[in-house]
Amino acid sequence: MSEKIIQVTWAHPRSDSLTAAIVSDIVDELEDLGASLDLIDLYREGFDGTLGTADEPDWDEPAKQYTQEVMEHAVRTMIADAVVLVFPVWWFSLPGIMKGYIDRVWNYGLLYGGSHESRLKAVRWIGLAGLTRTSFRKRDYDVMMSRQLDVGIAGFCGIENSRLDLLYNTLADEVEDLPMHYRELRGQARTIVRQLFEEL
Ligand SMILES: Cc1cc2nc3c(=O)[nH]c(=O)nc-3n(C[C@H](O)[C@H](O)[C@H](O)COP(=O)(O)O)c2cc1C
Repeated sequence: MSEKIIQVTWAHPRSDSLTAAIVSDIVDELEDLGASLDLIDLYREGFDGTLGTADEPDWDEPAKQYTQEVMEHAVRTMIADAVVLVFPVWWFSLPGIMKGYIDRVWNYGLLYGGSHESRLKAVRWIGLAGLTRTSFRKRDYDVMMSRQLDVGIAGFCGIENSRLDLLYNTLADEVEDLPMHYRELRGQARTIVRQLFEEL
């Protein structure tokens, strides 16, 4: 059986956040399964999430050489079998640094368009949501986010196997047993990546 490369990219300003704890569970789970891991901690590596002119796509030049930071990151993504992106939901979207990472790295000729060659076949977006599932459902925020991430980004890059999983109520509204609540959220994250690994 060939090795399965899974890239785990995450964004949170604090390394003692719930997001960080979830990432650590995901890493443990994938290591136990024998995945080959590529971990990207956008904040700690000081990733610049602003797309400047050097990384602006040139629609007439799909073979454009972008900045070294972008080229190196893109190669890491293109050789992965799957990417798992872990983030706190901010304004029903990605944190700016992660949006900027996608803007820059999932670039024209690299992850989409031109004659790009990527082996990437699955994406999992794991978003930690402060609000409850009921609040999301009330205004279809989950549908909206899935449309943006699964269709607008992954689908646009030709990856049909993309799924947004929201871990709800991180702010623990009306939760009596807090440790149990967080254990459940962490368990959900482990299940998501285990199923992903088995699918690959
Ligand atoms: C700038 C900002 C925007 C947020 N927007 C949302 C939101 O749109 N929907 C939501 O459910 N929670 C929102 N939250 C709450 C975060 O999702 C919540 O703090 C996070 O899931 C908790 O995980 P953490 O402890 O790792 O930060 C927001 C928090 C911040 C700081």
